[in-house]
Amino acid sequence: MERLQKIIAQAGICSRRRAEELIREGSVKVNGEMATLGMKVSYTDNIVIGGKNINREEKVYFLLNKPRGIVCTSNDEKGRKTVVDLIDTDKRIYPVGRLDYDTTGAILLTNDGELANILMHPRNEIERSYYAKVEGLVTKDEVNFLKKGLIVGREKYRPEHIKVRKYDKKSNSSYVSLILREGHNHEVKNIFKEIGHPVIKLKREYFAFLDVKSLKSGEFRKLNPKEVKQLYSYKK
Ligand code: URA
Repeated sequence: MERLQKIIAQAGICSRRRAEELIREGSVKVNGEMATLGMKVSYTDNIVIGGKNINREEKVYFLLNKPRGIVCTSNDEKGRKTVVDLIDTDKRIYPVGRLDYDTTGAILLTNDGELANILMHPRNEIERSYYAKVEGLVTKDEVNFLKKGLIVGREKYRPEHIKVRKYDKKSNSSYVSLILREGHNHEVKNIFKEIGHPVIKLKREYFAFLDVKSLKSGEFRKLNPKEVKQLYSYKK
């Protein structure tokens, strides 16, 4: 049993606060009866808002180690393989945020709209930890420059824990790890392009506290209830 407003928010209809308003306004019915604020419902109860039945799918949560060459949407207009195609489920899941076509690593997929919103909201500053191979030698001065934060286009980036792990003389490329908390599209590529070191390869090693060390490329696993609860606790 869960509170009605939580179930409505999880279905991706609106925020919990808005759900409470809808219940107070008398717009929500449970099993044909007017709902009351704070009431608890189960997955078998029928919930109707403003005359419409809400989607009551059981919530599912997956962590995928995304391979290269896969798009991060639930439906690609060009018919390419998507991250959703890699997960064995009959639920209507979608990725939480995006990794580029050629980026590998940790990506979450769920049908829980409320959690997806929490994790994607910049205010909640979810850690995204990356390992990038970039062109050229990244110098100490450049690392110090990045540490101060930078603006590229209209976006502000504040990379943290930037470390040059190695420099490969033969290919003239550097391997750099860093953490970002904003979640902008192409954030790592934009940062390194700005300082003249285009990204050659990119992997997301962690999303929040979840890493993909135990998963081979293309493998996924379900999150356990404790992990889901921990992800909810990122809400500020
Ligand atoms: N930053 C990028 O540039 N690409 C990604 O896929 C993720 C972060």
